[in-house]
Amino acid sequence: MGATCVVGLQWGDEAKGKIVDCLADRFDVVVRYNGGANAGHTVVWGDRTFKLSLLPTGVLKPHLKSVIANGVVVYPPKFLQEIQQIRDAGIAIGPNLLVSDHAHVIFPYHMEEERLSEQGDTSPIGTTGRGIGPCYQDKVGRVCAVRVGDLLKPEKLAERLRYIVPRKNRILAALHHGNGEPAKQFDADLLAHEYIAFGEQLRPFVTDTVHFLHQSLSGGKNILFEAAQGSLLDVDHGTYPYVTSSNSSPAGIWTGSGMPARRLDRVIGVIKAYTTRVGRGPFPTELDDGPEGIGERIRQIGREFGTVTGRPRRVGWFDAVAARHSRTLAGADELALMLLDVLSGQKELKIATGYRGPDGKVWEHFPSDPDLLAKCDPIYESLPGWRDDITGARSRSELPTAAQDYVTRIEQLLGTPVKTISVGPDRAQTMMA
Ligand code: GDP
Ligand code: IMO
Ligand code: MG
Repeated sequence: MGATCVVGLQWGDEAKGKIVDCLADRFDVVVRYNGGANAGHTVVWGDRTFKLSLLPTGVLKPHLKSVIANGVVVYPPKFLQEIQQIRDAGIAIGPNLLVSDHAHVIFPYHMEEERLSEQGDTSPIGTTGRGIGPCYQDKVGRVCAVRVGDLLKPEKLAERLRYIVPRKNRILAALHHGNGEPAKQFDADLLAHEYIAFGEQLRPFVTDTVHFLHQSLSGGKNILFEAAQGSLLDVDHGTYPYVTSSNSSPAGIWTGSGMPARRLDRVIGVIKAYTTRVGRGPFPTELDDGPEGIGERIRQIGREFGTVTGRPRRVGWFDAVAARHSRTLAGADELALMLLDVLSGQKELKIATGYRGPDGKVWEHFPSDPDLLAKCDPIYESLPGWRDDITGARSRSELPTAAQDYVTRIEQLLGTPVKTISVGPDRAQTMMA
């Protein structure tokens, strides 16, 4: 089987966590390669629900190796808290969890930097507030960066923070715009004390994960890469600047884990049967139709509220133009179509098959100009809905004809087979070809 990637093809929350959980037993290693605790991946086993932000979904299966690779940004308190949460649920976490010594570390000043820039900016991005963007900025900027390996060297860490923290304090004070809560200031020695202690707690997990992954590959192990976010939030190829700060498409695997591109054998693109987005940015098929509208109905039935921040997710029709773009970007070989059950009871379903720009021009491919995208109107194709509850369906042929036709139409529009269909949060509610 080699290496497989599960990647979201929309703006995140496509139910990647569920698919990774369904597939995990076929693999030896599960790897997170991008993002950090901005992700929220949900796994449901009967009456038990797990929500993972930073840890790979593989940790729920203690016999698997789970890797937080170098491309991830790690907030140590969150890491320790999630481990405790999983242990409290009766699941053992031990030497099978590995954290890259090259992963970058999030400090509280990163979150403060994010808070101040989001508040001060006239067009904030609507981030999750987890310090992700500022930490990646420091990674690329190098002078203020701290990696997980540095946490294990107390003297070096204390010295680094004595250089970084006064610099950060000046930046934070300058970012403050006069309104609201004053900019927080930090104490280098206190932070060093705290993070040296975190380092000691992280020490048993920290290793050279690049070497580990290369050894696993040459030893014939099967590796599953679990993307965070969705390809439309990718910092290079998404709807910039309303994106996250990492490469969430499979392109992030090469840099974010050290596995060579040519070793990836299979890409599973995960899509919702409709579209959601949290935070700001263009969303052509958004259903902004009020408290009695279809958008609100889908939000309630699909429980579309952010796993991390609890914010209501913006909801809209399935956008085949956007999904075709990200499917191509991700090189998806097959699709997993999720939350199909949420659309039951709709008389009519719509799919955007093109956009009309402000000058009347018809776009069949995703415009690269974000300002233009924000002004595009979707061109819809209408399909009949179905009334029946489909949450008990266990094969594609058990679905009502209209639901089967909806799936087939998505396959046609994206030129990619749907090999998995999900009709409920539980792993049993999954049809896998
Ligand atoms: P992720 O970030 O891509 O892992 O997705 P999230 O966990 O943030 O959001 C997906 C939500 O949909 C979670 O609450 C899941 O439990 C839920 N879910 C997954 N698959 C289905 C499905 O087929 N039907 C329904 N109704 N809910 C689902
Ligand atoms: P999962 O893995 C949905 C969004 C935020 C914001 C933008 C930038 O659960 O699919 P950031 O905090 O990353 O700088 O925020 O990206 N965002 C997500 N939206 N699912 C996610 O992760 C997301 N991670 C970040 O809402 O618009
Ligand atoms: Mg999520």
